[in-house]
Amino acid sequence: MRAALITSFDTPPQVADIPDPDPQDGGEIVTVLASAVHPRVRSQADGSHYTTTGVLPLVPGIDGVGRDARGNLRYFVCESGAMAERAVVDPRRSVVLPPDVDPVVIAAAMNPAMSSWIALRRRIEFTPGSRVLIMGATGNAGRMAIQIARRLGAGHVAAAGRDPQKLAALPGLGADTVIDLARDPQQVALDLAAAGREVDVVLDYLWGPWAANALRAIVPAREDDTQALTWVQIGSITGPESPLPSAALRACNLRIVGSGQGSVSPRDILAELPGLAAEVMSGGYEIDAVPVPLSDVTAAWEHPASDGARTVIVPTAS
Ligand SMILES: NC(=O)c1ccc[n+]([C@@H]2O[C@H](COP(=O)([O-])OP(=O)(O)OC[C@H]3O[C@@H](n4cnc5c(N)ncnc54)[C@H](OP(=O)(O)O)[C@@H]3O)[C@@H](O)[C@H]2O)c1
Repeated sequence: MRAALITSFDTPPQVADIPDPDPQDGGEIVTVLASAVHPRVRSQADGSHYTTTGVLPLVPGIDGVGRDARGNLRYFVCESGAMAERAVVDPRRSVVLPPDVDPVVIAAAMNPAMSSWIALRRRIEFTPGSRVLIMGATGNAGRMAIQIARRLGAGHVAAAGRDPQKLAALPGLGADTVIDLARDPQQVALDLAAAGREVDVVLDYLWGPWAANALRAIVPAREDDTQALTWVQIGSITGPESPLPSAALRACNLRIVGSGQGSVSPRDILAELPGLAAEVMSGGYEIDAVPVPLSDVTAAWEHPASDGARTVIVPTAS
């Protein structure tokens, strides 16, 4: 079968002919219709993700939509191997979808949607009415986070990002306040302080210097230092490490937690899949997806869509 294949962490995947996967231990073969190039998949393919084992060659792809032997459409998650004409799927790690859904849209939406859905439902006690700040709100996961925070009952959503066109669209997704991180640093600090004065939950996709900058702005501005401020570390777009000011942890009721593979158990993640799939299929969410045939995987890897739309590899036409 044809698959995207990584033979070196320094080069993008190439299309290659490889043996069909072997269904073992209850695994089931699906014909893969769509698998998206999430940042998580890029970091799998360049060896930088914290779960990497360093083993090559590797077929990238950690989720997708496929058709099983009975003709059912399934959304599935896996450790690797989704970007191939066929993949082995553990039925317990998959959800049957209605026959009329668009595999490309589901493949594009589930991973970015999962980031905030799981964080708010499994990693913290999220109370309806809470005020939420999203750092990195212009990305696919950040835009989903606005919509999901709203859906789960957020009372106020502030959304911080850089790209002017995407920022302009955020109120339409449910953001009450938009913070332009590309403005001059003093103004950004004032904007973050205003948004952070009473915020309950921060969903942080940026980390790196931005987490430290935001804490320096927000902590002195807290209206009530004893009010819980829960900072959920989800992505690290601007750097894997952040020089956090130690005083922030003493000066207010700050709690920093992460949300991702490991901090949330596989069992809890799987338990959320059906509800999240139903949520995404409800049609109320905006997601930009660009389907690309498997034959063009190398070019798609090297030239992501300039508007930030999620690239979805289509190994087999539906
Ligand atoms: N833990 C989890 O469960 C989980 C799940 C899914 C994703 N994630 C992580 O979440 C992060 C975001 O994922 P995604 O799907 O939203 O990625 P994405 O769609 O590629 O979005 C990335 C965004 O990062 C912003 N960005 C890039 N450099 C920046 C900078 N220097 N300063 C400020 N913003 C910058 C860009 O915003 P502009 O367009 O405004 O420049 C871009 O829209 C990734 O780190 C991903 O691995 C975690």
